[in-house]
Amino acid sequence: MAFSKYIVPALMASGAAYASSSSCGKSGSVTNITAQADADALSSCTTVEGDVAILSQAANGITFNGVQEITGSLTAAGATNVTLIAAPDLTSIGNEFSLSSIILLTTLNFPELTSVGSINFQALPNLQALTFTKGVSKAGSVSITNTGLTSLSGIELTSVGDFDLTANTALSTINVNDIKNITGTLIISANKNSLSIEFPNLVSAQNLTFRNTSSISVPSLANLTGELGLFGNYFSNFSAPNLTTCADLDFDGNADLTEINLPLLSSLTGGLAISNNDKLDTISFPKLSKVQGAIDLTGDYTNVSLPALTEVKGGFNAESTGNFSCSAFDSLRSNNVIQGTYNCTQTSNPTTMDGGSGSSSSTSSSASHTSSGAAVANMAVPSMGVTAVLGALLSLLM
Ligand SMILES: *[C@@H]1O[C@H](CO)[C@@H](O)[C@H](O)[C@H]1NC(C)=O
Ligand SMILES: *[C@@H]1O[C@H](CO)[C@@H](O)[C@H](O)[C@H]1NC(C)=O
Ligand SMILES: *[C@@H]1O[C@H](CO)[C@@H](O)[C@H](O)[C@H]1NC(C)=O
Ligand SMILES: *[C@@H]1O[C@H](CO)[C@@H](O)[C@H](O)[C@H]1NC(C)=O
Ligand SMILES: *[C@@H]1O[C@H](CO)[C@@H](O)[C@H](O)[C@H]1NC(C)=O
Ligand SMILES: *[C@@H]1O[C@H](CO)[C@@H](O)[C@H](O)[C@H]1NC(C)=O
Ligand SMILES: *[C@@H]1O[C@H](CO)[C@@H](O)[C@H](O)[C@H]1NC(C)=O
Ligand SMILES: *[C@@H]1O[C@H](CO)[C@@H](O)[C@H](O)[C@H]1NC(C)=O
Ligand SMILES: *[C@@H]1O[C@H](CO)[C@@H](O)[C@H](O)[C@H]1NC(C)=O
Ligand SMILES: *[C@@H]1O[C@H](CO)[C@@H](O)[C@H](O)[C@H]1NC(C)=O
Ligand SMILES: *[C@@H]1O[C@H](CO)[C@@H](O)[C@H](O)[C@H]1NC(C)=O
Repeated sequence: MAFSKYIVPALMASGAAYASSSSCGKSGSVTNITAQADADALSSCTTVEGDVAILSQAANGITFNGVQEITGSLTAAGATNVTLIAAPDLTSIGNEFSLSSIILLTTLNFPELTSVGSINFQALPNLQALTFTKGVSKAGSVSITNTGLTSLSGIELTSVGDFDLTANTALSTINVNDIKNITGTLIISANKNSLSIEFPNLVSAQNLTFRNTSSISVPSLANLTGELGLFGNYFSNFSAPNLTTCADLDFDGNADLTEINLPLLSSLTGGLAISNNDKLDTISFPKLSKVQGAIDLTGDYTNVSLPALTEVKGGFNAESTGNFSCSAFDSLRSNNVIQGTYNCTQTSNPTTMDGGSGSSSSTSSSASHTSSGAAVANMAVPSMGVTAVLGALLSLLM
C-alpha cells in the first residue's frame, strides 16, 4: 500500500516500537485478550492473522487501536464486565464477528468497518446502537438475537445469506435500503410489537418469515425460491405488488388481516395455506394460475376469488364458517383443474389439511385428528412446504 510508505517512517521517527512488523498473529491461531494491555500489544499490527478472542475475564473498555484487518474471527463470549469494544481503524473481519452474553456492553465503536464474514450477536441486552459509521456493506450472514438494539443503522448490506432478527424487544424499525437479494433465510420474529419493516429494493429472496410485526413494505419483491410466511402479525393488509412467483405462501394467525394484495402472483411451485386470520373475509388472487402443491384455505371468509386458476396438482381444501360459494371450485374439480383431494365445505369447525384448527372462532377440533396430522407435517422434506407435501400424500391416497 503506497500510503504505508509514508506512514511507516513517520511512526519510526516518533519512536513507535514495531512499526515495520505490520502483520501479527498466525493463521489458524488465536490471540487472546484479557485486558487493554493485550489489545495495545497489537497496535502496531495493521493485520492480525487468525482469530482474536476477548476472554471472559476482560473488563471495562477494550480498544484495538491501529489494527485494520483481522483475517479470522473477532469473538467475545461471556465477558460480562466488558462495557465497550472499539476498533477505530478496523475495516474488515475475515470470518465471524461474534459477541454473546456481554450483559454490560453498551458501546460498539467500529467506525471504519465495512466487511465481515458473518455477524452473530446474541444476549447483548444493553447494546442500543451500532456505531458502524461507514456501515457494514458485506456480510455472508447476520444473526442478531436478544439485544437492546433500537434500529439496524450501521448494517448497510446489498446482499446477504441468512438474516435472523429475533427477540430484540426494543427494535422498532428495520430499514435496509440497499438490500436487493437475500440468498438464505430471513427470519424476523418476536421483536418490538410495533416493528415496521422496509426493504425498498429487495427483489429476490429464498425464504422470508415474518412474525409479530406491525408493517412490512416490499414494493420490489419479484421472486422467492422458497416460502413467504406471515405468522402472528398485527397489520390489516399485506401487499407485495410485484411478486410473481414463490414456492409456498403461508398466512396463519394474523388476527387483524383484512386484505392480502398480490396482484401479480401467478405461480406457486409449492402450496398456498391460509388459516386463522379471523378478519379475512375475501381471499383473492386475481392472476394465480398454477399451483404445484395444494390450496388449503380455512377461516371465516365469505368470498374466495381465484379466477385465473388453470392447474392445482396437490388438492384443494376450502373450509369456512362463512357463507361462501363452492360452485366455481366444483366445476374446476370436475374439469380436473383441481387434482388430488377435494373438499369445499361450509362448517362450524374448519380443519386444515394437516388436521389443525383453521379458525380461532371454531368450536373445537378433534385431538386425535390434530396429532396424526402433525406427525405427517413433521416429516422433513427439503424445498417443499407442508401444504405441498400433504397435497402430494393425500393425492396418493385417492
Ligand atoms: C487462549 O484462551 C483459550 C481459552 O481460555 C485457551 O484455551 C488457549 O490456550 C489460549 N491461547 C493462548 C495462545 O494463550
Ligand atoms: C465481573 O466483575 C465482578 C466484580 O469485580 C467479578 O466478581 C466477576 O467475577 C467478574 N466476571 C467475570 C466473568 O470475570
Ligand atoms: C442473488 O445472489 C446470488 C448469490 O450471490 C446470485 O447467484 C443470484 O443471481 C442473485 N439474484 C439476483 C436476482 O440478483
Ligand atoms: C415492478 O416490476 C416492474 C417490471 O419488472 C419494474 O419496472 C418496476 O420497477 C418494479 N417496481 C418496483 C417498485 O420495483
Ligand atoms: C421472476 O420470475 C419470473 C417468472 O419465472 C421471471 O419472468 C422474472 O424475470 C423474474 N424476475 C426477476 C426480477 O428475477
Ligand atoms: C424454506 O421454505 C421451504 C418451503 O418453501 C421449506 O421447506 C424450507 O424448510 C425453508 N427453509 C428454511 C431454512 O426455513
Ligand atoms: C408471535 O407470533 C407467533 C406466531 O408465529 C404467535 O404464536 C405469538 O402469539 C405471537 N406473539 C405475540 C406477542 O403476539
Ligand atoms: C393498507 O393499510 C394501510 C394502513 O395500515 C393503509 O394506509 C393502506 O391504504 C391500506 N392499503 C389498502 C390497499 O387498503
Ligand atoms: C369476491 O371478491 C372479488 C375480488 O375482490 C370481487 O371481484 C367479487 O365481486 C367478490 N364477490 C362477492 C360475491 O362479493
Ligand atoms: C349464502 O349466500 C347466498 C348467495 O349470496 C345466499 O343466497 C344465501 O341466502 C346465503 N345463505 C345464508 C345462510 O346466509
Ligand atoms: C370435508 O371437511 C369437513 C369439515 O372438516 C369434514 O367433516 C368432511 O368429512 C370432509 N369431507 C371430505 C370428503 O373429506
